[in-house]
Amino acid sequence: MSIQFFPETKTFRLDTKETSYIMSVSRQGHLLHLYYGGKLGDDDISVLTAGEIRTGFSPLPYEYADGRYSLDCMPQEFSTDGVGDFRYTSISVVNSDGSYAFDGKYVKHRIYSGKYSLDCLPSLFSNPDEKADTLEVELADKATGVRVTLLYGVFEDKDVITRAVIVKNGGNDKIKLRRIMSCNLDFRRVGFDFIHFYGHAYLERLTEREHVTHAACEIGSVKGTPGHEHNPSVVLCDRNANEEYGECYGAALLYTGNFICNAKVDQLNQTRFVMGIHPEKFEFVLNADDTFTAPEVVLTYSDSGFAKMTHHLHDVFRENACRSKYMKQRRPVLVNNWEATRFSFTGEKIVSIAREGKKLGADLFVLDDGWFGARNDEHAGLGDWTVNREKMGGDLSDIIKQVNDAGLMFGLWFEPEMINEDSDLYRAHPDWVLKIPGRQPAICRNQLVLDITRQDVQDYIIKAVNNILDNNHIEYVKWDFNRYLTDTYSALCDNEHQGEIFHRFVLGFYKLLDGIILTHPDILFEGCSGGGSRFDGGMLCYQPQIWCSDDTDAVWRTKIQYGTSFAYPVSSMGAHVSACPNKKTQRTVSFKTRAAVAMSGTFGYELDTTRMTDAEKAECAEYTKLFRKYYDIITYGDYYRLTNPFENTRYVAWEHAAKDKSECLITAVTMDAYTQHHIMYLKPRGLDENAMYETELADGKVIIMSGKTLMKVGLPFDLFVSQYESRQFYIKKV
Ligand code: GLA
Repeated sequence: MSIQFFPETKTFRLDTKETSYIMSVSRQGHLLHLYYGGKLGDDDISVLTAGEIRTGFSPLPYEYADGRYSLDCMPQEFSTDGVGDFRYTSISVVNSDGSYAFDGKYVKHRIYSGKYSLDCLPSLFSNPDEKADTLEVELADKATGVRVTLLYGVFEDKDVITRAVIVKNGGNDKIKLRRIMSCNLDFRRVGFDFIHFYGHAYLERLTEREHVTHAACEIGSVKGTPGHEHNPSVVLCDRNANEEYGECYGAALLYTGNFICNAKVDQLNQTRFVMGIHPEKFEFVLNADDTFTAPEVVLTYSDSGFAKMTHHLHDVFRENACRSKYMKQRRPVLVNNWEATRFSFTGEKIVSIAREGKKLGADLFVLDDGWFGARNDEHAGLGDWTVNREKMGGDLSDIIKQVNDAGLMFGLWFEPEMINEDSDLYRAHPDWVLKIPGRQPAICRNQLVLDITRQDVQDYIIKAVNNILDNNHIEYVKWDFNRYLTDTYSALCDNEHQGEIFHRFVLGFYKLLDGIILTHPDILFEGCSGGGSRFDGGMLCYQPQIWCSDDTDAVWRTKIQYGTSFAYPVSSMGAHVSACPNKKTQRTVSFKTRAAVAMSGTFGYELDTTRMTDAEKAECAEYTKLFRKYYDIITYGDYYRLTNPFENTRYVAWEHAAKDKSECLITAVTMDAYTQHHIMYLKPRGLDENAMYETELADGKVIIMSGKTLMKVGLPFDLFVSQYESRQFYIKKV
């Protein structure tokens, strides 16, 4: 069992293959955090890390007024509120007497094999052939009866620990939950950096690294969805940590809504890290016996840099998040018509894009926005999920048949949570949108947001979307979400509960996913949200892949995909070859480089195939073939970032390596044009030092060398080529 409890010291110890996580119940009853890091020996560490401390003006519990035990200084597992800890608290609750206080003390615990799951929220699952255990620790505030159950899931072989929290009102009267963090990590140290992934629409998950100091590092979203601006995944690491060196912790929240992540050094030079639902505009009323479940956080630790941390997260997101058959089955290479046509197309045009797409080697054609209702631009149609027969020149089934006859599977775009005022749905149900009485709701992309906290709205959406899916031969769905939430007020909810709407919206969204995705196990679902505004672990529990960004410019994509790769597997990153000059950046990059970059993702095309020359189509078909050849290492292998595109402006490089070290693929792209002959060396990682490998050098010479030599010396990569040229090196064990 990976979880142990030592009754004499009241210590809990969670062990994975290479990490230990330790906490103990203090003599005052609080659950103290003692350690999270590299695996420890079988020693009792409480004498080292549970030492009581206080500082000037630090409050002490009443019964220990003469001692040194201050909640403001002690490392806590789930921090108290209002009774002595002035740091960022795990909970904020308004009790029935109006007081703001929570002092949770240990009541009991339970250890069992298998991984817990959560009610109404996504969470990782354990596979039958792997070891996973659960610890539940219950804390209670004696004065109010409020109880908190801390849940820990331990994936022993994957070096991953998950956390979640359930709050229960065990008192007799109503309480209001104002903040609940899923994770609190107290470190008795300083010297961390905080790496986070920021951006905006069309440029998501760029990378920024800051020192964690006495001023908080904080990211989050109050947009009702994770958003383009910040991602609910972060890295906390040593100041000198890099890809191969240094301690680092990776954290990702499985929640498709408002979130916060905060790291700050306290007055005693200790660091507190918290992650959970954003407390702004959040309030949840709990009557006696009601519970509230806070989302799951996935944590991992690496003693040797980011690459190892990334591999842990990629493994767990690939194998323990989504039950789609496409997690194991080869996914189709697709052609999507959005960048080619936007809203102006006919059924005939669609079929010809698909037909010509077949010549690129694609397996699937995706009909994007504009096929339904009166949707000829952004102003109308959202909500009316019936085919526009006039525009399409017939029924959907006619189009699908022609696409299928051309030898391609058929996929369709939906944006289920949205509505245009100019739609039959809005005309019939103007009260179904989020809006505040007496105000006009804010408009974004000419659309409003359906109030999916309501059962009737959920039922409508599930029925309308399923009606299309069940009556047509659809094998793929792109599920979009093209605005943030404002005016989050529900007409069916009384005033007292309006603070719950942001969270209820997320719960409503997961109900839609349950009702549509889980009932269609044979369909491949791809998430999307104005590009990658909804790229989080919660989504990955339902959808194997998510469209990374509407910026398909290969050069920017190297940066977007770099940031995305810290937490999320390559197999989840929707990436396509699009036309040049690029629609968003006007940049022109060769097909070869566009394909090399898109290959570090799910691979597909976003092109008007009817306007391509035969030579271009034949060239793309070669890239499709290449992607298929490397599919397994790209999809299931270990990913290595060989350069940081924000630091190395000369070239970017990355690697996909087979887990069994039998082969790898290195891709490099030059970022500038050079006047002199430069040779850079690309050092592969993840090879077997003692095995011999064969590879072809840039000049065509085939060499056979040991993994040790290749990893130490590297492959020469000539920079004396034009800007944005790329090269792929395939290395195979002989
Ligand atoms: C979003 C998506 C695009 C496309 C459009 C359609 O912006 O990111 O890929 O599907 O919506 O309106």
